Amino acid sequence: MWNFKLPTEIIFGNGVSANLEEIASGFGSRKMLVTDKVLAELPAIQKIVAGLKNVSVFSDVQPNPTVVNVDSLAARLRDEKIEVVIAVGGGSSIDCAKAAACLVMTDEKSIRAFHTEGKKFGLSHLPVIAAPTTAGTGSEVTPFAVLDDVEKNKKGPIASDSFYPVKAVVDPELTYSVPVKVTAMTGLDALSHAIEGYWSKNHQPICDILAMEAAKKILSNLGNVLDNPSDKKGRNELSYASLTAGMAFQMPKNAIMHACSFPLSNRFHMPHGSACAFTMEETIRLNAPFMSGRMEVFADYCGFENIEGMIQTIRNLKKKGGLPSTIQEAGIPREQIDILIEESFHPLMNNNPKEVTKEDLENIYRELGA
Ligand SMILES: NC(=O)c1ccc[n+]([C@@H]2O[C@H](COP(=O)([O-])OP(=O)(O)OC[C@H]3O[C@@H](n4cnc5c(N)ncnc54)[C@H](O)[C@@H]3O)[C@@H](O)[C@H]2O)c1
Ligand SMILES: [Fe+2]
Repeated sequence: MWNFKLPTEIIFGNGVSANLEEIASGFGSRKMLVTDKVLAELPAIQKIVAGLKNVSVFSDVQPNPTVVNVDSLAARLRDEKIEVVIAVGGGSSIDCAKAAACLVMTDEKSIRAFHTEGKKFGLSHLPVIAAPTTAGTGSEVTPFAVLDDVEKNKKGPIASDSFYPVKAVVDPELTYSVPVKVTAMTGLDALSHAIEGYWSKNHQPICDILAMEAAKKILSNLGNVLDNPSDKKGRNELSYASLTAGMAFQMPKNAIMHACSFPLSNRFHMPHGSACAFTMEETIRLNAPFMSGRMEVFADYCGFENIEGMIQTIRNLKKKGGLPSTIQEAGIPREQIDILIEESFHPLMNNNPKEVTKEDLENIYRELGA
């Protein structure tokens, strides 16, 4: 027995972001475009802003958005009586917009009530239109927002059905300017979503096929794009893959790789994609024997003779993208491994096909140089 839902309408294709005014005005006239400072300076984003009527811009989103970012955006949404929110950016801008668009419909002034203190959202929210500029998080089709409460030292996801954007406007051209290292990190984040959606205990047939399709596209295009960042065809495929990977994990949810990524990001400031990729090879080796041959099917679908062949390609992609593959390269002191392991037991770990023990994580970190 399984179910699948995705309330977000997807509009995909080169140039579709030129239609944002028409798409957004169906939801109201007062608009807020949410982005970050780097993106706000890019000609492609300035062109989008110029094409929107009656729009304010919020460009204070930080990478790994904070509760303070969300609270300031929500205050602006309230003050300016905004009717529709347009997030144009990576996962950081989209997550910040999704969370603020819900917060604004409640009596709370801070998202902390829902993030750090565990209160649940109702279903009301301002409509969010999400146009991703990275090929990575899939946030345009997920019910999650990952936020950082810096003061309380807690970074993690919150989930709510009210977070699904009403429209995902996926224009691969918006990703053409992503720097090489960010392309590697975001591409491997998308790959981690495909793998985790596939091996989650809650996996199901629709998400399985989306996951395999996403992984195949990433594994056959990411290396070429890292070698040649102006490979437009390859970047188009990565945009499609990150969208399908988002659809693949949004219901089954992530597992061990993301659970391990949180302390890596919290304690060692590893960007999200890099943190997910850090344990990828070893977690594949750990889980494969507990998946009744499904990981072999996955590797075969992606064009590899066996799982080890796929792992080798992943390792090469990390090298090519300049991402760390050992604790030494990541700058993690050996004496911090115990605390890293302790903090990896996030609830997402319960979705893992192999029940993860402390010893499993010790073995993984030993293979990574500890
Ligand atoms: N909501 C979800 O389902 C979900 C899933 C995975 C990760 N996340 C979260 O998303 C965040 C990461 O998002 P991200 O990886 O997309 O990165 P990001 O949004 O933080 O952006 C990374 C950097 O790339 C720059 N950038 C983005 N697009 C660009 C472009 N087209 N050209 C040039 N520069 C560009 C940004 O300005 C920023 O400096 C993390 O907080 C992570 O935890 C959310
Ligand atoms: Fe992720």
